[in-house]
Amino acid sequence: MNSLYDAMIAGTGKYVPKEIRDNHYFTERMDTSDEWITTRTGMKYRHIAAPGEASSDMALEAAKKALDAARMNANDLDMVVVGTISPDHMFPSTGCMLLKKLGIKDIPAFDLSAGCTGLIYALTVGAQFVMNGKAKNVLVIGVEILSRLINWQDRGTAILFGDGAGAVILSIAKNVSISKLIDTDLTADGTHAELLMQKAGGSKYPATEETVRNSEHTVYMEGNKIFKFAVRSMYDSCHKILKRNNIDISKIDWLIPHQANYRIIESLGKKLGIHTNRVIVTIDKYANTSSSTVPIALDDAIRSKKIRRGDLVLLVAFGAGLTSGSVLFRY
Ligand code: ACO
Repeated sequence: MNSLYDAMIAGTGKYVPKEIRDNHYFTERMDTSDEWITTRTGMKYRHIAAPGEASSDMALEAAKKALDAARMNANDLDMVVVGTISPDHMFPSTGCMLLKKLGIKDIPAFDLSAGCTGLIYALTVGAQFVMNGKAKNVLVIGVEILSRLINWQDRGTAILFGDGAGAVILSIAKNVSISKLIDTDLTADGTHAELLMQKAGGSKYPATEETVRNSEHTVYMEGNKIFKFAVRSMYDSCHKILKRNNIDISKIDWLIPHQANYRIIESLGKKLGIHTNRVIVTIDKYANTSSSTVPIALDDAIRSKKIRRGDLVLLVAFGAGLTSGSVLFRY
């Protein structure tokens, strides 16, 4: 990418709430089975936020870990970008709430809504400010409490989602550094927006007694149509970014795809021709935490020393919008 500076990942962090729900939680409450959930999705456990716990609280915990990993404190930050579809409030932004909790002010902070592609979009936006010299250090967050937006009677969606937060600190890369962001790719197709949405509670259909009665403020999803889009769009984004940078898939050390369904991850891996042992999978532990699946998986892989400095890493996601995108970097 043409830029004044290179951006690099200086630190990562994650937070998942204490309460863990396994598949049996659902088998006791609805017509489903551990076998169905495991074989159709790959999910075993999901973490659920405690009453009163907000997205900004979870983002704060992930941010503190990322700052520690980058050997920085909050005063070193020049910007905060939060990818989320479950913000604390419609307004003000979770970014501003987080700023307050970090004890800092007088820097830009905002939210960005790109569904499960939120972290990829937020990283891309944050990187622009680092690469053009407007910011030295940007805190990028993916955070979701989708458990508050779920229809707990709907077996088609209730089993799929968990809560969590992931944080990435983007910083200016020193000239000698091997670590750098190589390229990003973003796209969206609004013609299929209705396949995955929260129908009510916004300005088009404000919350009424009727919308609440009909659970229209919860996640509506046409899962099998999204499934096809997921594999195709993530493959297209990976293919485009690799081709543009003249990199063969065999050179990628780690692929971190959005964790929505193990069968989607498996199909993507096969289509790309990457060995399963180079694909990071966390869906069994956390289920689909939307914009935070990618940074949580990234942080897990770094802390378990799977990903090491110098490794070539490809992040890819898709989500509500419908959005999709990828980020290619050398860690
Ligand atoms: N337990 C048992 N049976 C179930 C369950 C369940 N929890 N959920 C659905 N079924 C049933 C259906 O009712 C259907 O029954 P029928 O044949 O009698 O009508 C049957 O299973 C098959 O349903 P499908 O929807 O075709 O099942 P599929 O294999 O597609 O799996 C799933 C459903 C897991 C949702 C899958 O389609 C999927 O993962 N899709 C992608 C979802 C996704 O990626 N979402 C992105 C969200 S990202 C964001 O931005 C928030």
